Amino acid sequence: MIMNDNFILAPSILAADFSKLGEELHKLDIAGAEYIHIDVMDGLFVPNISVGIPVIASVRKCTERFFDVHLMINEPARYVKRFAEAGADGITVHVEACSDIKGTIEQIKETGAVPSLCVSPDTPVEEVYPYIDDINMVLIMSVYPGYGGQALIERTLDKARKLRDYADKNKPSLNIEMDGGIKLSNTGMVIDSGVNVIVAGTGVFKGDVIANVHEFHKEFDRKRG
Ligand code: DX5
Ligand code: ZN
Repeated sequence: MIMNDNFILAPSILAADFSKLGEELHKLDIAGAEYIHIDVMDGLFVPNISVGIPVIASVRKCTERFFDVHLMINEPARYVKRFAEAGADGITVHVEACSDIKGTIEQIKETGAVPSLCVSPDTPVEEVYPYIDDINMVLIMSVYPGYGGQALIERTLDKARKLRDYADKNKPSLNIEMDGGIKLSNTGMVIDSGVNVIVAGTGVFKGDVIANVHEFHKEFDRKRG
């Protein structure tokens, strides 16, 4: 396995204090978090509802950082254009939520946003292989989507290893993102499985946000060696 050491931290704002979201984003910005991970839920694909288009458009003013928008909604093709207009830089859709995966990727590309596919814990990672040439990133869920603060499901790391091996042969530049239950304490293990984009909600927002971002970056440096 060849490590993709273009490590990126993507703090999930689901764990932020929404009463001062602008300030929270400002902290991530000055701390140097590369991405801002924004979880969008529709109450149908997942049993929870979070934020949507107006919130993204509003916080777009707070930072120039890459908005990594994770759509946990059914048939996301209906909305990709509006999310891109609101300020999404990357749009990730679940393979389980799309009746036309190829068409959805095409629609994301038409908006100019970066397309990614996501697999939930019980979905085989092989389901993304037919689309690998058309996407920049695969998001492997390490918890069942819907809520922050859950424990990482370790068997999902096998999917990252399998995908990294496949990508080494077929698309070495592929970014592999993992989302759910990642803390400073298990980041090393996640990176060792081939992941280079780390989503962390409670792992970043519990305690001192800026210090936490710096600790994740130090762990990235240790992994680079
Ligand atoms: C879960 C979301 C995650 C979540 C991660 O459906 O996709 O991004 O916010 O939160 P933690 O890091 O707390 O597990
Ligand atoms: Zn997410």
